[in-house]
Amino acid sequence: MPPRSIRSPSRDKPSPVSAGPIVVGRAAETSALTAALTDADTGRGRTVLVVGESGIGKTHLVSSIVEQATQRGFTVAIGRAYPVETGVPYAVFSDALVPVLRAVEPSVLTLLSRGGTAELTLLFPALEAPGRTSSQARGDPAELKARLLWNFSQFLSRFAAKRPLLVVLENLQWADSASLEMLHFVARQSGGDRILLIGTHNDPDHRGGGALRATEQSLRMLGNTQRLRLEALPVDAVSELLERMFAAEPERTAGFAGRLQRWTGGNPFFIDESIKALVEGGQLREANGSWSGWDVEEMRVPATIREAVLARLAELSPGARRLADISAVLGTRATHEALSAVSDLAHDPLVSAIDELRGADVLTEREDGRDIVYDFSHPLLQETLYSELGLARTRALHGSIAEALERMYEPRAMAHAGELAFHYARGDPRRLASKAVQYLRTAGRDASAKYANREAADYLAGALEIAEQDPAEPAHELVSDLARVRQRLGDYPGALALWQRALDAARKSGDIARVASIERSIGLARYWSGAFGEALAHYDAAIEAAHQVGDRPLEARVLIAKASCLQAIGKTGESGTEIEAALAIATTLGDEGLLARVHRALVLLYLWRGPAAKARENGRQAILLAEVSGQRAVAWSAHWALAMLGGLTGKSDEIRRHLADAHRIADELRSPLFRLWTSEVEIEYAAGMGDWDHAVALAERTTDVARSLGQRTLLPRVLVWLGLLYLGRGDVVRGKACVDEAWELSSSGDASGTVRDVFAVVPAHVGRAAYHLSMGHYADAIRVGERGLKIADRSGHTVWAIHRLMPVIAEASLWASDLKRVRLIAERMRRESAALGQLLGLAWADACDAMVEMLTGDKERAVALLRGAAEALEAIPFVPDAARVRRQLARALAETGDREGAMRELRRAHEVFAHLGAQRELDGTREQLRELGARPPTRATTQGVAGLTGRELEIIRLVAARRSNKEIGAVLGISARTASTHLSNIFAKLGVDSRGALADLAREAGLLEATV
Ligand SMILES: Nc1ncnc2c1ncn2[C@@H]1O[C@H](COP(=O)(O)OP(=O)(O)OP(=O)(O)O)[C@@H](O)[C@H]1O
Ligand SMILES: [Mg+2]
Repeated sequence: MPPRSIRSPSRDKPSPVSAGPIVVGRAAETSALTAALTDADTGRGRTVLVVGESGIGKTHLVSSIVEQATQRGFTVAIGRAYPVETGVPYAVFSDALVPVLRAVEPSVLTLLSRGGTAELTLLFPALEAPGRTSSQARGDPAELKARLLWNFSQFLSRFAAKRPLLVVLENLQWADSASLEMLHFVARQSGGDRILLIGTHNDPDHRGGGALRATEQSLRMLGNTQRLRLEALPVDAVSELLERMFAAEPERTAGFAGRLQRWTGGNPFFIDESIKALVEGGQLREANGSWSGWDVEEMRVPATIREAVLARLAELSPGARRLADISAVLGTRATHEALSAVSDLAHDPLVSAIDELRGADVLTEREDGRDIVYDFSHPLLQETLYSELGLARTRALHGSIAEALERMYEPRAMAHAGELAFHYARGDPRRLASKAVQYLRTAGRDASAKYANREAADYLAGALEIAEQDPAEPAHELVSDLARVRQRLGDYPGALALWQRALDAARKSGDIARVASIERSIGLARYWSGAFGEALAHYDAAIEAAHQVGDRPLEARVLIAKASCLQAIGKTGESGTEIEAALAIATTLGDEGLLARVHRALVLLYLWRGPAAKARENGRQAILLAEVSGQRAVAWSAHWALAMLGGLTGKSDEIRRHLADAHRIADELRSPLFRLWTSEVEIEYAAGMGDWDHAVALAERTTDVARSLGQRTLLPRVLVWLGLLYLGRGDVVRGKACVDEAWELSSSGDASGTVRDVFAVVPAHVGRAAYHLSMGHYADAIRVGERGLKIADRSGHTVWAIHRLMPVIAEASLWASDLKRVRLIAERMRRESAALGQLLGLAWADACDAMVEMLTGDKERAVALLRGAAEALEAIPFVPDAARVRRQLARALAETGDREGAMRELRRAHEVFAHLGAQRELDGTREQLRELGARPPTRATTQGVAGLTGRELEIIRLVAARRSNKEIGAVLGISARTASTHLSNIFAKLGVDSRGALADLAREAGLLEATV
């Protein structure tokens, strides 16, 4: 009796008791997964990893959850990685989602992806309608990668909004690293979505890949991720299984169940195979509707899982066995067409071989669109078959599969480069090397276009290795391609070694044009790794070589790169000279794209160095040229720079206009990074305008996104701006948390004193100095401020220093009665602000002089200076700072005997601070009013319910829904600790001390009704 017949009646057909597969001994795991399903259903996205040794029952358990999910109306997407892994990037996700997405109307797809179908097809080429070729996305690699992952997770979120989504990713131990990265990204983003992600793998102790371990560890820190480890089935579970399979009473099978459990170590796959062998061998037999033979003491069955598998395979006919071998070597799921093409079997023999394999439970089949696809019923079968083949046969099969698939895919074979490369590279190298190189290279470039850098590096390194053995193969392009990918992976030493090789080869063959382009690449690699001096030397070599061969566009591009390197080391003057040289070339060539870039470089130069008018003029040119030459990213950056300039020079209409344009282009480009950078300027603008509610909410959102996109420069910066706002509102706990995190992230505390990124380090110093100032630690504020100033000076980026750092140092010095320092700083602010056209710095310089004047000399003059400074700050507008100056003005007025005037100033300041929710300043203002014998106006403050931020409201609602901090963190994509910090701030704001009291208050205040 074939083993299947014992399965059919009781196992596979739904019985009245339970629909679906029999699952024994997994009650706890099942309920954990059911709970996760319920969470996902109600918009609390979850990720569960089911892990355990091969055959322990992961797939089996998950399929029972899949059944539940289907009944509850989930869309289910199941993807697998395979033991014979082809290394195609995003393969597991593609396997899961392509069938689901194919079923979606193209118009709906366009809607859900917000017009980003091209990106989806870039990730999943199989989605593409045949005949169409995808357009290559271009741009900065980091930007593109963030865009791909971000928009994909946004797409999933929208896709799951209507109908919850279960994504199962099986056998992650074999997954490509791009899929792992995507899993990580989606898991992190889906906290508030109706998405359940389930991953399985058979490497619970992580003996294998480091990538999987890193992914899992990092996932588990997110808080919404859980790990279920499956252990061996205990004896009673084995009994139950026997009872349900054979309708045998437990009393009769008790001894047998114990022995079986011992023989198999409680591994269900092994149990299954052993039972099959016993039935087949006749030890277990059926008579008159009941099973006997339970007294069997010894098994004539194999001693290991592997032997069990081999025993089963040994029963196959030669034809079926050959087809099984071919399927094992093919790697992934195989279509009928592919099997037919590679097996060389005519229709009838093929079908009967397939039938046999299905009958023996080796292969399973299903429909996928118009195709029929086959898969192994268990990966152990495929693994065993593959390893049994031996090298010679494996190699021959890979080779013939490669050629058969290539014929089948023609004329679109290149679209399957990854798969073909995989087989060609494992075929006979003497015969197939050049094909292997050809496909590996294409696959490498495809992967690199998807920013699947690890896969790209693997393909290209594979190509290079083969090409090197064959002198006929030109390797130099491969070397450069691989160098570029290594560079993107942050492997600068690896990249440089390859560049050097390419350079030597180019020199030897006298190919100066290539020397130029390689020297430029080396310069960039040096620049990104912070070796500015060496970068400059290579740029110079590139310029010279480009000049020599008359490649003027390249020469101009290198000049621009050199200019930004010079800027980074503070040589702004020389930087300008280089850009002017590039401008001359671009003008002669009349190349609009190049001109746009040159003008963009000039905006950035003048933005940081002044004069503002030049920055403005070049910005206008850059935008115009970028628009006509279709370089949207350049247009965006010019708008961004001009918005920034508007902020620095106090032109709020310019800020508004350019912000709107930058936002628009960022949206059109679907770029999360451009959106983030634009938001940063908007935060500063809103803060300056005194719209702190908006500034705080936007900064909170921006930090969340910057965090998940791993923005090393932007995140610390926005954290600082957010921290300053919190500090301004008297929320010291959160303010400190933000500036501390920024300090940490930017490695500002690095004792070695190496500055990695001035653009993050200087703001981190601003944050910390401001924190000390607000705590009254004046000496610390001065120390940190001066340190930051030194770093800014060294790098030539004094703008922030004037804008943010010097005012803090000056104020701290003032309260520390260090008037000499105040004067020095004021003088410097005035000088440099005048050069840059920065109104803010000028106003601050006036305020400093006034304060010194007030403490040491002419009170009347102090009044005049302070009034002027306050008005200048309001005009910028820098409303909060203006109000602070008005408080000092009131003090000066009071000292000159103008009590009325003083009160007028204080009332004005009071109104501003109350609106901002700036607690400390408000308290100080009220105190001053009282000192003058006046009664302060009503405290129309934003303390209490009105002072809650958007994020706090979200948290209150979750608290009212009885969520723990961990759960809240998971939903909002923040850590449990951050959630707890928010909560203590909420308690303080609302004057409550328990979650219950908070929920009651929220209910009474109607906070639970509104939607966020
Ligand atoms: N809890 C269970 N109750 C009954 N049968 C089970 C159970 N778990 C597993 N099985 C049986 O054991 C076989 C192997 O299980 P499964 O394929 O789920 O293992 P796996 O952990 O996914 O292994 P791999 O890591 O190799 O994919 C299944 O075909 C199923 O018939
Ligand atoms: Mg499995």
